[in-house]
Amino acid sequence: MRLLVTGGAGFIGANFVQRTVTERPDATVTVLDALTYAGNKRSLDPVSDRIDFVHGDIADLDLVDELVSGVDAVVHFAAESHNDNSLAEPWPFVQTNIVGTYSLLQAVRRHEVRYHHVSTDEVYGDLAPDAPAFTEATPYNPSSPYSATKASSDLLVRAWTRSFGVRATMSNCSNNYGPYQHVEKFIPRQITNLIDGVRPRLYGAGHQVRDWIHVDDHNRAVWDILERGRIGQTYLIGANGELDNKTVVRLILEAFDRDPDDFDHVTDRPGHDQRYAIDATLLRDELGWIPRFGDFRAGLAETVRWYRDNESWWRDAKAVTEHAYAQAGERTLDPAE
Ligand code: NAD
Ligand code: DAU
Repeated sequence: MRLLVTGGAGFIGANFVQRTVTERPDATVTVLDALTYAGNKRSLDPVSDRIDFVHGDIADLDLVDELVSGVDAVVHFAAESHNDNSLAEPWPFVQTNIVGTYSLLQAVRRHEVRYHHVSTDEVYGDLAPDAPAFTEATPYNPSSPYSATKASSDLLVRAWTRSFGVRATMSNCSNNYGPYQHVEKFIPRQITNLIDGVRPRLYGAGHQVRDWIHVDDHNRAVWDILERGRIGQTYLIGANGELDNKTVVRLILEAFDRDPDDFDHVTDRPGHDQRYAIDATLLRDELGWIPRFGDFRAGLAETVRWYRDNESWWRDAKAVTEHAYAQAGERTLDPAE
């Protein structure tokens, strides 16, 4: 299979490309990536001699049309992906997540190429603490500019499938963790803070719940859907990994042999979603997918090791990221707040 992987220099895309090249010798991979602040070509170093890398924008209609004409399938990971950035400056999210997806859909439509769209559970908004988990039938209710643009892109995919017969599938996954994740995100930010001797930074009280899944489990599900998923179907991907943020910070502190209260509460995210949770019954029953990383503590320990061993991968981005958080007004809360 000849694959075009968009966003292959980002966190999930790079893990997908590395696994694909090593585990699927029948696949050839072309990566299209704009190398924004979130893209890092070094994430593809282990397989760089076995892929084609194209530095370009998914919203470039001519470039995308040419690349799509030469492949059997597109797996679309590229996005502006960080909620905090979307609150500071929403425009790149509209341009990449909506216009970029439009550009890919027009090309796969024209060349009748199979398309898999990688999306997020955030399109469903947030859940009350005791509400049932999201299913494929949950109505869309996005909260942030990021999730609203991902929801918009999902709706474009549905329309292109129904109106133009595009052979598309979609997946909406919960929070990923693992190697090569940008240090702006929650888990790598706290791990690299601790490596630097800085206390972890918890937004607000830290009661928000996320449903954690290892990036390799996500990517195995993407392959299952690409090969055996029903055209037009959405599959939710999740591994029953619900944890509140304070618990995650304490597990990271434990991995560093630090006191469980050795963290700071900082200003909360505006509009912060309280809880995400995935019901992946359809994926499990129809495609037989099961997660391999059942033990979050063990997956976290492996992730901590990766950041310890690969400081040169994240060091430059760390300073820039922490400067941006400070500029955005993040501050430590008083105990009374
Ligand atoms: P990321 O921010 O780490 O990587 C995004 C990649 O896309 C980067 O390499 C960047 O350079 C590239 N990119 C951005 N704009 C581009 C453009 N206009 N043209 C070409 N390339 C561009 O993101 P991620 O965390 O790897 O997420 C990948 C996908 O998975 C996204 O669609 C995201 O919405 C979705 N997703 C992420 C998670 C998660 O927990 N990280 C969970 C569910 C779904
Ligand atoms: O649910 C899937 C989504 O997960 C993906 O679509 C997004 O691309 C991905 O970024 C992630 O979104 P979140 O906003 O949930 O992830 P983030 O890592 O930014 O934050 C996770 C939780 O941790 C969230 O409740 C905010 C909190 N947080 C985050 C940071 C960066 C902190 O408490 N402290 C922090 O320093």
